[in-house]
Amino acid sequence: MTTARPLLQTLSGQTLDRPPIWLMRQAGRYLPEYRALRSQAPDFLAFCYDPEMATEATLQPIRRFGFDAAIIFSDILVIPDALGQRVRFVAGEGPQLDPILDPAGVDALSATDAAAFLAPVYEALRRTRAALPAETTLIGFAGAPWTLAAYMLEGHGSRDYATARKFALTEPEAFARLIDLLEQAIAGHLVRQIEAGAEVVQIFDSWAGALPAYGVQAWSLGPMRRIAERVKQAHPEARVIAFPRGADAFIEQYAAVEAFDAVSLGQSLPPATIGRVRAAGAVPQGNLDPMTLIVGGPVLDREIDAILAAGSGGPHIFNLGHGITPETPIAHVERLIGRIRGG
Ligand code: CP3
Repeated sequence: MTTARPLLQTLSGQTLDRPPIWLMRQAGRYLPEYRALRSQAPDFLAFCYDPEMATEATLQPIRRFGFDAAIIFSDILVIPDALGQRVRFVAGEGPQLDPILDPAGVDALSATDAAAFLAPVYEALRRTRAALPAETTLIGFAGAPWTLAAYMLEGHGSRDYATARKFALTEPEAFARLIDLLEQAIAGHLVRQIEAGAEVVQIFDSWAGALPAYGVQAWSLGPMRRIAERVKQAHPEARVIAFPRGADAFIEQYAAVEAFDAVSLGQSLPPATIGRVRAAGAVPQGNLDPMTLIVGGPVLDREIDAILAAGSGGPHIFNLGHGITPETPIAHVERLIGRIRGG
């Protein structure tokens, strides 16, 4: 008898009785066991690069909730760190980088040592795969070139990424070199994650919503498609999920990309988008508003049911529209899982 692998079966187009479920940022500060572990690390990146701690953080939500997938505990900003643009996480302020100011800043980056630099991530994947139940799928991930370039040019998070958007237009050649370098580094990182045990990889374009329409193809869709194609070329059995958060007018164009097995939907898209994404050729993932998981009660039940109804009759992966936040009560996560699995 073969073991049921709900997430992989769904990504291969099967319709199951209930959708598989995992949550973006499922390992995080809403869990007391995460906060206890995190307090032992000097800083967030040291935590990410400690294979033992990263493995433990990845497994915590699986032990507690039995999600259908584990996502490796790491961060999208390990790529700029590995390219030589050091990243710092300042408590309460989010990530900080010394911003790239000019073309020379782009040319100072190098991917030569990235594989060795990121070796602890691959070690954490190997340890996690060995510890996971057979039915639990292991997900690797990376940020998309645009989202990483946005942090690298801005130096921190931003509402509209105006500095990055300006650089793209005033220094088009240097910007293209940056996107291309990131494309190569991200593809390599995803391929190595698969070789270390990841069965699925998700590409997070968290700030795709800040792109002008004329930039979507060249700066997001094109680079993400080429990354997914390189992953599939190296490992045809691997599955790829694209998350172009906020690029809502273009969502069916992402879904039509053959190398994207699934497309993750943010909460700004109505549940009916689930059917449109499927019709365009991808398995839909999402798209519960993380705020309903904080609030709970009838609001949470109503939104879960609306997404389940929109997802019924075809493959669908239940998830949030964006990451779970630290103030989310654990009881609400339990309620969500119970409602999906029909308790
Ligand atoms: O999903 C998981 O459980 C796996 C781990 C994961 C983290 N970050 C751990 C993390 C994943 C998949 C990410 C992706 C990530 N990181 C994204 C893309 C997803 C999204 O949210 O759009 C982005 C934009 C980042 C960059 C990043 N990392 C920011 C902006 C922050 C600070 C925000 C905050 O809440 O402080 C982080 C830090 C971070 N990454 C934390 C975790 C659990 C919290 C830091 C801590 O524990 O101190």
